[in-house]
Amino acid sequence: MKNILVTGGAGFIGSNFIHYLLKRYDDINIVNIDLLTYAGNLDNLVEVSDDKRYTFVRGDIHDRALVEELFQKYEFDTVVNFAAESHVDRSITDPDIFLITNVLGTQTLLDVAKKHWKLDPDDKYSREFKEGVKYLQVSTDEVYGALGATGLFTEKTPLAPNSPYSASKASADFVVRAYAQTYGMPVNITRCSNNYGPYQFPEKLIPLMINNCLAEKNLPVYGDGMQIRDWLYVEDHCAAITTVLEKGVLGEVYNVGGNNEKANIEIVKLIIDNTGKTEDLIVHVKDRPGHDRRYAIDNTKITTELGWAPAYTFETGMAQTIEWYLSHKEWMDKIVSGEYMSYYEKMYK
Ligand code: NAD
Ligand code: TYD
Repeated sequence: MKNILVTGGAGFIGSNFIHYLLKRYDDINIVNIDLLTYAGNLDNLVEVSDDKRYTFVRGDIHDRALVEELFQKYEFDTVVNFAAESHVDRSITDPDIFLITNVLGTQTLLDVAKKHWKLDPDDKYSREFKEGVKYLQVSTDEVYGALGATGLFTEKTPLAPNSPYSASKASADFVVRAYAQTYGMPVNITRCSNNYGPYQFPEKLIPLMINNCLAEKNLPVYGDGMQIRDWLYVEDHCAAITTVLEKGVLGEVYNVGGNNEKANIEIVKLIIDNTGKTEDLIVHVKDRPGHDRRYAIDNTKITTELGWAPAYTFETGMAQTIEWYLSHKEWMDKIVSGEYMSYYEKMYK
């Protein structure tokens, strides 16, 4: 892992991942390709923008000519694909772009990487790749569908996505699998539960609720608020991805989760307490169509086989997260004053 192509690195997890790597590895070159959609924010990376180990390129992962040019110029040995349309609610109103970016964009990256990494790219029967190359697809637990009151997703749980977002991520996972099966491409897939932490766009539950508390705005809880997610602090996710890059067995899928199942309403109340507000702000709004009731990850494989474990408890992670948003009000204000506000008005009118 020396020359890394990080896609979608101006988003929430991708930018945390770039900070994570630059803090820990000296001998590394990172190229971040990001289209800077509404979710991409270069403010997330100002501290590293002059770092010699880091280069930003604005562009689309579905732009084959650009991806090809970058592979030629930088000779990547590693690709970590974060780039995606990532918000379930947006996928319900506008699914097309989810399939274009999440499925076709993934296939473009795989195809260009295959061409550069295969020892004999012209021999369709050859399955030999250069030493030490790897493509890692950052996927989600949402590809498994929803759980009832009990049970956990393992890597063997059949994929049963319910939203256009999760269907696009599941489709991308199948394309990644097909490249491994058909061409012998060296890949891993990680399927992570809900992340939280610094730099998360305020359309997602936790930053949205923190922002609304600070602005004394209503807190829109979908339905009864008893839907359950398994929360993971973003730095723990970055550590898991790094572990899979270094130690993951080629072709394998690894679930990543923090063993932190929480109902949405619990989280909203915790944020209210930590920001000194009252529960009067809570408003139960109409539920999301097809809303998955519960996600929960069995992380036995990555913990026992690769030795990764989350370092943060939900309490320590949430305390650090709320503190970060309180001390980065300018970061939030800049987003809220932009395109996001018109989306918000439309979404919650
Ligand atoms: P995000 O929406 O914050 O960031 C996505 C980034 O991708 C943005 O910077 C955006 O500009 C960029 N992008 C979008 N389309 C692009 C394109 N065509 N070409 C290049 N860049 C493009 O998302 P996130 O929360 O950081 O999620 C990152 C990845 O992790 C996604 O693949 C998501 O499915 C997955 N994931 C997220 C979570 C979570 O809780 N946030 C959990 C599990 C998995
Ligand atoms: P979200 O952060 O959008 O992540 P995902 O849908 O990928 O799990 O939502 C997390 C949970 O919070 C989900 O059950 C939907 C719920 N939710 C609300 O109740 N109100 C909101 O305003 C948002 C954005 C989410």
